[in-house]
This record gives sequence, structure tokens and C-alpha cells, in this order.
Amino acid sequence: MDKNILFSSWQLKNLKLKNRIGVAPMTRMSSPGDSIPRQDVLDFLVRRAKNGAGIVYTEGIVSDYESAQGYPGQARILTERQIDAWQPVVKSIQNEGSIAIMQMFHCGRIAWPEVNPANRVIAPSPIAPKQDNPLTGAPYPVPDTMSLFDIEHVIQGFVETAKGAIAAGFDGVEIHGAHGYLINQFLSSYSNQRTDGYGGSVENRYRFTHKIIKAVSKVIPEDHLLTFRISNWGVADMEVSLFDTKKEYQEIIKLLSNDPLDAISVSTYEYHAKAFGTEQNMARITREVTKLPIMICGKIYDRTSAEDALRDADIVLSAKSILLNPDWVEDVREGKMLPLHKSEEANIAYTDKPLQ
Ligand SMILES: Cc1cc2nc3c(=O)[nH]c(=O)nc-3n(C[C@H](O)[C@H](O)[C@H](O)COP(=O)(O)O)c2cc1C
Repeated sequence: MDKNILFSSWQLKNLKLKNRIGVAPMTRMSSPGDSIPRQDVLDFLVRRAKNGAGIVYTEGIVSDYESAQGYPGQARILTERQIDAWQPVVKSIQNEGSIAIMQMFHCGRIAWPEVNPANRVIAPSPIAPKQDNPLTGAPYPVPDTMSLFDIEHVIQGFVETAKGAIAAGFDGVEIHGAHGYLINQFLSSYSNQRTDGYGGSVENRYRFTHKIIKAVSKVIPEDHLLTFRISNWGVADMEVSLFDTKKEYQEIIKLLSNDPLDAISVSTYEYHAKAFGTEQNMARITREVTKLPIMICGKIYDRTSAEDALRDADIVLSAKSILLNPDWVEDVREGKMLPLHKSEEANIAYTDKPLQ
């Protein structure tokens, strides 16, 4: 492998990335009330672009005002005021030669009903996660089964949010299909036990995802990006593999590859961990069945791990390392010795302490 691949430019559709490094999406819970992130949280993203990240993802932006919000103080991009707040941030990121992508999120059953303006909890099936909500200490509520009306309504929320992102000038939009949230809940038989056209076979469980991608792609201009994030693990009941077999996971990747996506972002707990009882990691298993560009994330913390991760993927994303170190990209370039941060250290993201 070319020793300089990490810092080589790369063509993603018709956008030129200045390197193969991106800021992973990170929820900051800094937007109570008007759903607009605190200024220091917006500045944080621009700072990462200045330090050299080729791609900057936003936090997971909530896709509606009814049932999508799962944590206090999440952001939205549905009103003119919200769009206006993001516009200068996006421009500043682009002025640094970086690409800005907005991630859209619906929590589904990973819900905290009190924080949702409409107080509703919906999911493919009326099954709550087994574990309690770690932030409240209370059990997750049993969700309402989504009706066909709910399904269409939620899809519309993703479409409206994507329109907001385009109006704010983002280069692209990501559909959050990972971490056990709503879209992932439809994909996984662990949480989807429907008997209609949205449950059962892999094709049926994929139908909700397909409809969202199709509807959203119609509002994304041809020269913009549409990416999809997937994982085999969720934030609740973390020990559970959300897809039963390599074959099942690969079937979903093949279905994604037939839809109008520009990249698949694979979120892992540890990028090199072997998956589904095979000798392969998640990126390699994904690569086997798709020609789409692959982004990989999970414990990539220094130059060696970043270059190693690129053996099976095209772009590396960092969350904790880049969260806690504003100079991370430059430090990686210089090959500095860098720490592997613990999850608890990232809790600072949710405080009102401004991060550099
Ligand atoms: C503070 C924080 C917030 C996060 N919020 C999101 C999010 O909104 N959307 C998402 O897809 N992943 C989110 N993640 C997961 C990260 O994007 C990433 O997949 C995970 O932290 C593993 O990468 P790392 O080992 O580089 O930290 C978050 C992680 C952290 C630390």
C-alpha cells in the first residue's frame, strides 16, 4: 500500500477530498429549545476542518418534531432559523477545503419520550430494548408499532431534513442506519417482528430503508452526496449482533448497493475486530459485496491504525480522538504517539464545557 495514501486526495463522486480522514458524526446535546447547536459546538466542527479533516460530519440531526428525538438537546434543520444557523458553518468548513455532510437520525425505540415534543415512541414492533436507558436509569418504553401512516410520515421527516441540509449548503446527507436506531431496528430481526411487507425476509426488512433512500435521493442534487451508515451493534443491548450471519449482513449491503448511494459508512466498535465468526473484519466483509466507497470507524487513533484500516476501506472516520484533540489530523500526519481514548472521556461532549 502507498505509504502516503492517508493524505492523498481522493475523488468521491464529483467531489475531491483532500485526504482520507473524516470527523465521525457526534451528537452533542447542545441545542435545547430552538434545536440550534451552541456556537462553540458549531465552531468545533470548523476547527476540525481547519486542522485538515477531509470530511466533516455533523451530529445526528433529528428528522422530525414528533418521535425522532432520543436525547435531550438534539439539533434539527427543519426551519429557516435552523437552516440560517448552519449556513455560515457549512461555508467555513468548505472554505477550508473540506466537505460537509449532515447526518439524519430517528431514535425509534431508543427513546426518551419526555424530550420529544409530541411524546411518541414508535418502532417497527412493540419491543423495548432489554437494558435500561443508561442516561435516565429507567426502562425504555415499549414503543407503538408503526402504522403505514407513521412509516410514510417518518419518511417525509427525512426528506424535509435533507431539504434543510441542501438549503444550508451541505455537500451531502447521510442516513443514519446504524447503532440500533429506527432504521437499524427495521433491518434487524432482533427488533423487527412485523408480519407485513416491512418484516420477515431481508428484502421486507430492507423496504423501509429503500423507501427512505429513494425519497431522499429525489431532493439531493445530482452533484451532492448521499451516504448510509450501518453497524452490526446498537447502543442498547450492545452484546447482541444485530444481523445473524455474514450472509444476512451482506444481503443488506447488496441491497444498499442497488440504491442511489455514494458511499457506505461502516461503524464498528473496533475496526479490526473479526466479525460473524469469520477471520474478516466488517470493512472486508462489506467490500466483498459492494463497489461503493467504504468509510470505516472504530478505535482508529493514530497513523498506524488509520493506515491499517485503509487496507479494507477508502476513508477513515474518527470520533473520540478527533473530539478530544483539535490537532488530531496534524498529529497523525506527523506520526505522533497518540492515546486510545476511553468511552467515558467522550462524555465531555455532552457538557457545556466548550471544546477547542
Ligand atoms: C460523543 C459522541 C457522540 C456520538 N454521536 C453519534 C451520532 O450522532 N451519530 C453516529 O452515527 N455516531 C455517533 N457516535 C459514534 C461515533 O461516530 C463512532 O462511530 C464511535 O465513537 C467509534 O469511533 P471512535 O472509536 O473513533 O470513537 C458518537 C460518538 C461519540 C463519542
